[in-house]
Amino acid sequence: MMKKDVAPSLLAAKCSLYEATKMAKEAGAGYIHFDFMDGVFVPNKSFEVESFKEVARISNIIKDVHIMGINPDVYAKRFLDMGADIVTFHLEAVDDELLRKTATIIKNHNAIAGISIKPKTPVKELSQALDTGLFGLVLIMSVEPGKGGQSFIEESYARLREAKELIGDRDIILEVDGGINETTGPRCIECGADLLVAGSYLYGHEDFKQRLEALLR
Ligand code: DX5
Ligand code: ZN
Repeated sequence: MMKKDVAPSLLAAKCSLYEATKMAKEAGAGYIHFDFMDGVFVPNKSFEVESFKEVARISNIIKDVHIMGINPDVYAKRFLDMGADIVTFHLEAVDDELLRKTATIIKNHNAIAGISIKPKTPVKELSQALDTGLFGLVLIMSVEPGKGGQSFIEESYARLREAKELIGDRDIILEVDGGINETTGPRCIECGADLLVAGSYLYGHEDFKQRLEALLR
């Protein structure tokens, strides 16, 4: 069975990206989550692509990039060149050709390609993407992508179970993002999630490490 882990989301960081990544690593997180928003696929913009360099200065933590943008192939290349380990993009942002193209670029960089769906996209729509054999991660959004600090959408538990079922015995990480806290996190794990993304629950709190541990309890 895959080791359950947490990816602190830098979107909620109250310090520099370098400091926030270091904080995650020192607290024992195996991953760090970097959100990229283009202002087109989602209304907001988040970090500049180049600011990922700050994150990349920290070694021995898996760098998980979440692209909320159209033209993910272009952005993926840039993040990969800076040292991304996982690059996830949205099913809703691509057609079949761009999906394959982007996932292939990611795989050719020896990184893991991830595919994400928004809360209203049926889980079964992931099926064709997973059958390409190009993906090593599925990201179920448990809030509408675009901003941090929103409440977990309850239907996401059932969606995780459905995604877990769809993945079957394939070697694919099941990640969940949005509204993760000490109540929703452990329940997501029960529903089959391997990797919990948590932003506002972790950053800005003195007890970051205790909170991180509480997510996996
Ligand atoms: C939302 C982002 C998330 C965000 C989660 O679009 O993808 O990664 O940081 O924030 P919280 O944990 O505060 O819901
Ligand atoms: Zn995210």
